Amino acid sequence: MLVLGIETSCDETSSAVVVDGKELRSNIVASQVDFHKAFGGVVPEIASRKHLEAIVPVIDEALRKAGVKIEDIDLIAVTKGPGLPGSLVVGVVAAKALAFAFRKPIVGVSHIQAHIFANFLIYPQIPLPAICLVVSGGHTDLFILNKDKSVRHLGRTRDDAAGEAFDKVAKLLSLGYPGGPIIDRLARQGEPNFIAFPRPLLPDSWDFSFSGLKTAVLREVRKLQEKGELPIPHICASFQEAVVDTLIEKTVLACKEFGISNVLLGGGVIANSRLREKFKERADKEGLKLFIPTLNLCTDNAAMVAALGYYDWQRRGAVDFDVEPSLRI
Ligand code: KG4
Ligand code: ZN
Repeated sequence: MLVLGIETSCDETSSAVVVDGKELRSNIVASQVDFHKAFGGVVPEIASRKHLEAIVPVIDEALRKAGVKIEDIDLIAVTKGPGLPGSLVVGVVAAKALAFAFRKPIVGVSHIQAHIFANFLIYPQIPLPAICLVVSGGHTDLFILNKDKSVRHLGRTRDDAAGEAFDKVAKLLSLGYPGGPIIDRLARQGEPNFIAFPRPLLPDSWDFSFSGLKTAVLREVRKLQEKGELPIPHICASFQEAVVDTLIEKTVLACKEFGISNVLLGGGVIANSRLREKFKERADKEGLKLFIPTLNLCTDNAAMVAALGYYDWQRRGAVDFDVEPSLRI
């Protein structure tokens, strides 16, 4: 089955063609990051206008690169949420217009779950059930992916997402946007134990919370500034280590609690080099099977949307003809 994926939930306009939820034919991503940099974060109005400009050429390019025509497509999969309303609506309307004009079925999928389905494009066999961790600019979610690929949600962030904390700490240190990759790079020259930042574990819940950690960084930065020293690589490394430890610890606890030994990761923050390295070490130690997408499939892309669309279609046997953008899934 040939699936056309469309993704416009935040600041990447993307379209992809995927066969049977696993074989990637094309994955075009037009990033708007340069337009938002000057503002230190994503400006929703700019994002939706840029999506509008890019959506048709990006879909055309995805079809061209895959060597197919829109008539050949069997199913259209689009991110219906969560995301920025003005951005989501561009992708959803484009998908609906194509579905209507070319009489194609359409399925609206969850952006958060799609991040996990990036793994199915890389690994031919993924044993289920699995504990899934999605860490991105807007989300930090933990859930169980059942054998039939249905989802049992365990927890989410109560305040800042982990990626948002990376971006805000980078802003605080005047490092630029997006903060994650910059902190990742600078942290390589720093000492992770230089400052003992808190590891917010919320022991009675599967939820996360990163705003306290962000405030702890702010307090520490002020103290160091008063002393006239600001060892940026050490601050980056110590902050990053606290985020990484929290994410790993909570995931391993969930594996033990539910007796599950497969772990799937997804989302932009999973591109973090320290997180990837430390997760692999810990998984080996705990006897867990770990699945991590390649870097290009960690950040937002439509290939993961097409993959999830295929499996949703298979599992539910029916589609969401009346797709509407939705802020919560
Ligand atoms: O999944 P994504 O592309 O978009 C959302 O759905 O939010 O994730 C973007 C987030 C940003 O907060 C960015 O700073 C973070 O992922 N990120 C990273 C790294 N690369 C991207 N965070 C830490 N280390 C990285 N290497
Ligand atoms: Zn995302």
